[in-house]
Amino acid sequence: MSSGGRTVARVEDKLRLGPDAQVDDKAIIIMPKDPRSTDPFLALAEDWFSEPGFEWHPHRGIETVTMVLDGVLEHGDNVGNAGALLPGDVQWMTAGRGIIHRELAFKNEHAHTLQLWVNLPARRKMVETGYQDLRASARPSVDQPGVTIDVISGTIGAVEGLASNVHPIQGAVISLDPGAQVDFAVPATHRAFFYVLTGRVTVAGRQVSEGQVAWSDPVRTGSSSVRIESTDSVEVSRVLTYSGQPLREPVVLGGPFVMNSRAEIEAAYRDFHSGKFGQVPKVARLRRS
Ligand code: CO
Repeated sequence: MSSGGRTVARVEDKLRLGPDAQVDDKAIIIMPKDPRSTDPFLALAEDWFSEPGFEWHPHRGIETVTMVLDGVLEHGDNVGNAGALLPGDVQWMTAGRGIIHRELAFKNEHAHTLQLWVNLPARRKMVETGYQDLRASARPSVDQPGVTIDVISGTIGAVEGLASNVHPIQGAVISLDPGAQVDFAVPATHRAFFYVLTGRVTVAGRQVSEGQVAWSDPVRTGSSSVRIESTDSVEVSRVLTYSGQPLREPVVLGGPFVMNSRAEIEAAYRDFHSGKFGQVPKVARLRRS
């Protein structure tokens, strides 16, 4: 079988940061320090929280894609969405022009989440705010001997994910039995990352273990794939992957806002403080999930 032309440019370790004012523990898998090297992705954070979690705060110019790993995530926003997400569920939130939301541990008990920040193209940064629950139980999968691909977004094989995209993103969780392998198709124009949730695999021949992320840059061929092979002899290896075409635009980060210029960040703060994002909701906490 062909290698699909793709290589792994680099493998990085997640960085454990420990507790802070909001969380009981935190790790960073994608650090927003050189957005050009991770474009169109900005950050991937792993959080373990109970109380307080992430109380009301705004976002503009990005999408946040959150997967619950363990516990229950309670969320609410100022466009009327509220609910609880269970392990495996994914929340796909398009902040677009502006949202105010909160992300809490249900009953302040425990939530363990992975949150990806996906950048939006300059011409779509002020798109209408959107919200999608992509429940684990509702997501389609591609099944092969020893391999299950849980499709979050994009079309994998003939299977179309449930996420509706502003900027096309392919996303999946690939589970491999010990020794199993798959040639995973990634559009040639996409930059992809492969984050190992459990176990050990090779990605295009490079060893990647639990807690590590492998990056694969766009290639020139028309179609491309990455060989992923389990090298774990005992447990099922699970790999979270996202890919998308780089935007190749200026990136300016300002707290919860990501825009193309400093002036647009200042405008975001002005709009938020003058109420243009809407009001901070006054709603009670959820009592049942
Ligand atoms: Co947020």
